[in-house]
Amino acid sequence: MTSTLATPEPSVASVRLVEVRVVRRIIKSWLQKRAWRMACYRRPSLSASFGLRSLRLGDEIAWHKYLADPAVIEHTSFPVLDVDAVRAMLVRHVEEYAAKTSCRWALAGSNDDLIGTCGFYSWSRASAHADLVYDLAAAYWGKGIMQRAVTAAVEWAFATAHFHRIQAYVITSNQRSIALLERCGFAREGMLRHFRIARGEPRDCYLYARISALPLRAVNLGG
Ligand SMILES: CC(C)(COP(=O)(O)OP(=O)(O)OC[C@H]1O[C@@H](n2cnc3c(N)ncnc32)[C@H](O)[C@@H]1OP(=O)(O)O)[C@@H](O)C(=O)NCCC(=O)NCCS
Repeated sequence: MTSTLATPEPSVASVRLVEVRVVRRIIKSWLQKRAWRMACYRRPSLSASFGLRSLRLGDEIAWHKYLADPAVIEHTSFPVLDVDAVRAMLVRHVEEYAAKTSCRWALAGSNDDLIGTCGFYSWSRASAHADLVYDLAAAYWGKGIMQRAVTAAVEWAFATAHFHRIQAYVITSNQRSIALLERCGFAREGMLRHFRIARGEPRDCYLYARISALPLRAVNLGG
């Protein structure tokens, strides 16, 4: 008579438990990814003609086109960039967006082409503050478009992501940007000497900030 060692068969109940756990984990991970997408994409539409959307490969062509305009970079620390350098910058922003370390949107016209960017190029979850950034093709200046974009981005940062402080650094000669920040409720907090090197020249910057009126909560970037 041969004896066989019986391998314990997993019970139906234990198999189900494992299945349920796996499905739960998949759903949780999907919900976390979706929450991040929703948090970032749940942006108010600016108008029938303009909106904020995520940056995507291909945007470097339109972005480079206006960053090549000396008037656009004159009061910024942008170096003169060729299209490959703009693509590298775009890829970095897309990767940082996925890693939740920054969130810079494309400002798009009605045909979905990029005409500007606006968002937050770095942040601290622990201190609940984020650094605002924006730029716009010169053909669209003087229409209040960036004011609407900044208002929407700051609203998202305070109400959805729960940042408590938004700050911006602006070269002291950048009158358009200063006027925009002040129209959007930012207060000048001081001057940072030689804070940016703009095409080889050290430039002073004003520090502007706006504080949320909402109660302090943990920063929520969707999981
Ligand atoms: C900074 C920058 C985004 C400002 O653009 P902008 O168009 O002047 O800013 P706004 O969206 O606030 O528009 C305000 C202008 O629109 C006008 N406007 C027209 N319709 C308007 C409306 N419905 N609501 C508000 N403003 C309106 C305002 O009167 C104002 O015109 P003015 O400049 O002739 O006084 C732009 O100059 C830029 O991209 N510069 C280069 C990059 C840069 O400097 N980035 C910032 C680095 S810190």
